[in-house]
Amino acid sequence: MPIHIVGTGAFVPERVMTNLEIQQFVDTTDEWIVSRTGIQERRIAGPDESCSVLGARAAELALADSGLSADQVTHVILGTFTPDGYIPSSAAYVRRILGIPHGMAMDVSAACSGFLFALETARAMVTLHPEAVILVVGSEVVTSRLNWQDRGTCVLFGDGAGAAVVTSQPRPGSGMIVDVILDGDSSQSELLVVHGGGSAAPLKFGEPTGEDFFVQMQGREIFKHAVRSMASIANQILVRNGLHPSDIDLVIPHQANIRIIESLAKKMDLPMEKVFVNIEKYGNTSAASIPIAMAEARHKGLIPPGSKVMLTSFGGGLNWAAALLQF
Ligand code: ACO
Repeated sequence: MPIHIVGTGAFVPERVMTNLEIQQFVDTTDEWIVSRTGIQERRIAGPDESCSVLGARAAELALADSGLSADQVTHVILGTFTPDGYIPSSAAYVRRILGIPHGMAMDVSAACSGFLFALETARAMVTLHPEAVILVVGSEVVTSRLNWQDRGTCVLFGDGAGAAVVTSQPRPGSGMIVDVILDGDSSQSELLVVHGGGSAAPLKFGEPTGEDFFVQMQGREIFKHAVRSMASIANQILVRNGLHPSDIDLVIPHQANIRIIESLAKKMDLPMEKVFVNIEKYGNTSAASIPIAMAEARHKGLIPPGSKVMLTSFGGGLNWAAALLQF
């Protein structure tokens, strides 16, 4: 059964943190950050902007774009590694904020691949329940888990949320989910971790949080895996669907580093004009990066009817994914 993305939305906090601001409190420079990552600034969530609050704002915009209302939503699936808390899920809070009367809500934990893992979960749900109207959300307050003294990580990330409405009923301008591939390999899990506060490294009452409470990453190794995995899964999904890279009108990759994105484009033999980039404004927003980018690309008219779009992501787990959409 064909399953469609019928609306998209993105929401980012107002507060902008530039590289110049960061260089005032950690040993880095605007020049280093721009040349090594492509990031010029990122958004920082305020005290009232939790994962679910950002996610709900993006979801509202996606619903408005779809022409559907909150009381028609049957499922909320939210990808994040920075949830509001352990219980309830951030998806449950999104359901409450939007006034969705009832229906399933759950979080998906796949770090930067969270949105595509949630999207494929939604596709499976719609296959089982063709009447379902599913909010798929990627929302992160990565800055809640950043060590602002670690220049190797704190310059890279930002906060934000994106969302899509997934149903079996197409609308004008909607995109059919043609195929999705999810993959991963846990042999290199330790390259990107946030251990502290989990059941294997519990916080102890009265003790200060240690470094392991924050994102810890071996950047150079992650870089290599990211390029290799995204290029490989992009190729797999093309081959599986009898397509050539030149058949793709727009690639929307996870926005982690401009050099990763450029290497991916080179490996796919695609000009950068066919690759959507907004990393300069938001940095790496993890699970939110692809839905924010997709909503922006649609808003800018870069995905006219007839477009074939590829989404591809990579992140902690290690997990990676690709999706093929036909608008
Ligand atoms: N400012 C200045 N110097 C820095 C900074 C900084 N912010 N960060 C690191 N350096 C220094 C290092 O200390 C090192 O110095 P040394 O040679 O004296 O030891 C030097 O710069 C080179 O460090 P590298 O780590 O080799 O730099 P690299 O070119 O690899 O860039 C970066 C680092 C930007 C982290 C890059 O490796 C990268 O983007 N990796 C991928 C990260 C990523 O995508 N992570 C997210 C995955 S998604 C998820 O699931 C959350």
